[in-house]
Amino acid sequence: MIEFQLNGQTVTTESPPDTPLLWVIRDELKLKGTKFACGIALCGACTVHLDGAALRSCVTPVSAAENRAVTTIEGLDSSAGKALQSAWIEEQVPQCGYCQTGQIMQAANLLADNPNPSDADIDKAMNGIVCRCMAYTRIRKAIKSAANRGEA
Ligand code: FES
Ligand code: FES
Repeated sequence: MIEFQLNGQTVTTESPPDTPLLWVIRDELKLKGTKFACGIALCGACTVHLDGAALRSCVTPVSAAENRAVTTIEGLDSSAGKALQSAWIEEQVPQCGYCQTGQIMQAANLLADNPNPSDADIDKAMNGIVCRCMAYTRIRKAIKSAANRGEA
């Protein structure tokens, strides 16, 4: 049995240790905000935080989370996370919405490390979180807006 913290709650799984963390989060623990897309670490739709750092849960074995803290979009209540979610609404960022969990989780990681990122910092940090709807301009604008609130 593997135990870890999920959005502040202690959870357990009896899945094999090499089960992708994403499967456990979505299929066992029924938090559907984290998305499955490529399944091979190429798109970022499955991004969650492990002890505060963004990672791709589709290729992370659940054993890597043992006795550690996982945060998903449902539990993203840091000041940066809240600022981002408000900015996302104000800037009307999503189109189809499928990539947006990954975008926000990656952006929250960026603002936690760098509360006042330049355009280049944003482009570098967000590189690889794929948006098929090409919402990149609005994503960058919302990240800057969240940063400018001074809450991040
Ligand atoms: S679903 Fe994990 S990176 Fe694409
Ligand atoms: S909003 Fe559709 S993939 Fe990003």
